[in-house]
Amino acid sequence: MSPIPVCIVLGTRPEAIKLAPVIQQFQACPAFATQVILTGQHREMVAQVMDWFSLESQQDLAIMQAQQTLTDITCRSLQGLQVLFQEYQPRIVIVQGDTTTAFAAALAAFYQQIPVGHVEAGLRTDDLFNPYPEEANRRLISQVAQLHFAPTVQAMDNLRRSGVVGHLHHTGNTVIDALLSVSAQQPDCPVPGLDWNQYRVLLATVHRRENWGEPLQSLGHSFLQILDACPDTAILLPLHRNPQVREPLQAILGDHPRVFLTEPLDYPNLVGAIQRCTLLLTDSGGLQEEAPSLGKPVLVLRETTERPEAVTAGTARLVGTKTETVVTAALELLQDPVAYAAMANAVNPFGDGTASQKILNLVQAFLGVSGAD
Ligand code: UD1
Repeated sequence: MSPIPVCIVLGTRPEAIKLAPVIQQFQACPAFATQVILTGQHREMVAQVMDWFSLESQQDLAIMQAQQTLTDITCRSLQGLQVLFQEYQPRIVIVQGDTTTAFAAALAAFYQQIPVGHVEAGLRTDDLFNPYPEEANRRLISQVAQLHFAPTVQAMDNLRRSGVVGHLHHTGNTVIDALLSVSAQQPDCPVPGLDWNQYRVLLATVHRRENWGEPLQSLGHSFLQILDACPDTAILLPLHRNPQVREPLQAILGDHPRVFLTEPLDYPNLVGAIQRCTLLLTDSGGLQEEAPSLGKPVLVLRETTERPEAVTAGTARLVGTKTETVVTAALELLQDPVAYAAMANAVNPFGDGTASQKILNLVQAFLGVSGAD
């Protein structure tokens, strides 16, 4: 029997990290002819991850533009994927998460009546505009997917509550597969001028659309106040490539001697930074999953989270973006060892490192491919 064509579509850095172990599983399986398609929503930030995991793409739609709008990303992805799906005739299209690439790829597959497998299905904040546009993207993908790979029991419940059709499976989150494979190698995180032994380092990242503008200003000032209150701390802030994010942060923080602004870190360096830092301040979804697994407290710089498991487990706290609230929460952890110890627990509510193997097995069963592996 000739190998079954499968397309795995990704566009941004978190999709690349979370799909890397899935791609490795599919490419190692002779039953499948796996095509990896990049939309190109991100460029450099995806290339880093592809290189680290030794992944190659078969197609790149190269859609990225400076100041791209959601409409640009959607239209250009839909049109490009239509042509590729007609050419490859995949029996299933696999997408991950809640980006505009994932939504457009799911819709493009649906238009050709190709089944969609959704990795990291079922996350919800139940607030349509938080995060924006991701909450809508993930709900829309759930409506057209036939295979839903939920990372947690709560995500399974969310899917049932949403009335989705198709096959629901609890697999764990593939980010843990990626994280475990990288952290086992004890990666370093060299940052020019930063001596990890000299300071307690706070790892900060900000990029979400709903935090652009005023919230970003407020966060920048909260970081300055934390540094003023704790002279033994430094902040490592890898800047997102988006000028809407990096320019205001550079303006507020660029001159401070204990702020280390860098380009986006390679994935192993990021994991090395999580392992070495004292505390994370972030609006990232992936970091809310990775940091608890490595026993690091996370202050979530958002009003809502679709990852309540880490909050329930006590390792993450939702603090929003108001300067005073962020400063108070950070200082409590930095100045009170008991409060810090209570949050610094290694917990793994998001998976055990076997999600991608389970996803491969489930797709084989769905397509009637006999003999796993
Ligand atoms: C996207 C996702 C978001 C995800 C984030 C991870 C959507 C709507 N948003 O948001 O869910 O959390 O990726 O980073 O899908 N840029 C570069 N080089 C790169 C990547 C980005 O220069 O490699 C710049 C470009 O100017 C681009 C801008 O960043 O226009 C914004 O990129 P975009 O993908 O639209 O938004 P993100 O904020 O990255």
